[in-house]
Amino acid sequence: MAQKRILLIIGGGIAAYKSLFLIRVLARRGIKSRVIITKGGTQFVTPLSAGSLSGDTVYTDLWDLTAEAEMGHIELSRSADLIVVAPATADIMAKAAQGIANDLATTTLLATDKPVLYAPAMNVRMYEHPATQRNISQLKSDGALFVGPDAGEMACGEFGDGRMAEPEAIADAIEAALSAAPRPLSGKHVLMTAGPTREPIDPVRYLSNHSSGKQGYALAEALEELGAKVTLVTGPTALITPDGVTRVDIETAREMMAAVEGALPADIFIGVAAVADWRPASSGDRKIKKSDGGVGDLKLTENPDILKTVCGHKKRPPLVIGFAAETNDVTAHAQAKLKRKGCDWIVANDVSGDVMGGDHNTMILVTPDDTHAMPKMSKADAARKLAQKIAEHFS
Ligand code: CTP
Repeated sequence: MAQKRILLIIGGGIAAYKSLFLIRVLARRGIKSRVIITKGGTQFVTPLSAGSLSGDTVYTDLWDLTAEAEMGHIELSRSADLIVVAPATADIMAKAAQGIANDLATTTLLATDKPVLYAPAMNVRMYEHPATQRNISQLKSDGALFVGPDAGEMACGEFGDGRMAEPEAIADAIEAALSAAPRPLSGKHVLMTAGPTREPIDPVRYLSNHSSGKQGYALAEALEELGAKVTLVTGPTALITPDGVTRVDIETAREMMAAVEGALPADIFIGVAAVADWRPASSGDRKIKKSDGGVGDLKLTENPDILKTVCGHKKRPPLVIGFAAETNDVTAHAQAKLKRKGCDWIVANDVSGDVMGGDHNTMILVTPDDTHAMPKMSKADAARKLAQKIAEHFS
């Protein structure tokens, strides 16, 4: 269970105090919690106590610009392997069943692509009410998981179904849900490159390109979710390292080459980086002055081809995948590149539009005997599709 992470939504109910115990129980089992507390929840437990136990930022407000700058709410909704709502009040389940998203917790539940586990807690009459039962059925048919409630004496003095399950029982349900997720790439080491490289002209200037690293990072995340051990050798980007991914920061193509060779062996190599093909032939440690004659005759020299080197390496991984950024004759160029570089697959994309730096991609998967065009989709979806294809290849 090491490195697993849940996003715990603490709703507004007296059982909220048990969720603080849940954080501790999970920590002992090697599961990290990131916490959202609803407005009602903050009447019962404080962000300070939840944050002290989880060791992470606690999120409470959809409109908190500071929290949003740290991690957008959509990103937050996908930042864990499982979302756990405990206590799940009648109100939060009613909203989730209807798709209402009017605060951080409900927005998260609507935006997530992860499984959700509810631990209901409420008065027995509220729990047995046909409206609540309808909502629970709806959530179950939408794929949600449930633990509890238990029967017993309630804080309100009544007796019956509605007590939140005990922290140990919720933790058991969490472990069961986490291990149920298919991990077809577990035991596989994926070595990847992503982002641009920067090639210094002098200490203050460099040559680079428009790569944002988004596609590479999304792919690293998707592969990690399928159980792979991922090493991501990355040029400078503004992106957060996906959970569980080992990140190696480099700047130049030569540094990237060295980091890749240092991280071999691997089962899969994927070159997503937009490596600068050339670098200035010389770059001193003094800033070039206009009075020195400027850089008008800047001489360039070719960088190592990382993908090609890996393909011919004595530790060549069994599956080597390159990306091909093309602006015209995409498939033909990709097929030629596949042969030239000696890799197994090429993922070609047309970068004539806003692909570089944008959020969408249209990929064509080229193998020696097949060409498979995919529709335009988000980079996250494209990453999941490709990760699935890789998993199928090894199955
Ligand atoms: N690549 C690499 N090292 C380089 C250049 C490219 O590892 N020095 C990898 C990229 O990460 C990508 C693939 O090679 O997986 C193709 O990159 P691309 O820029 O499309 O191809 P080039 O080899 O640069 O060919 P050209 O610019 O002529 O299209």
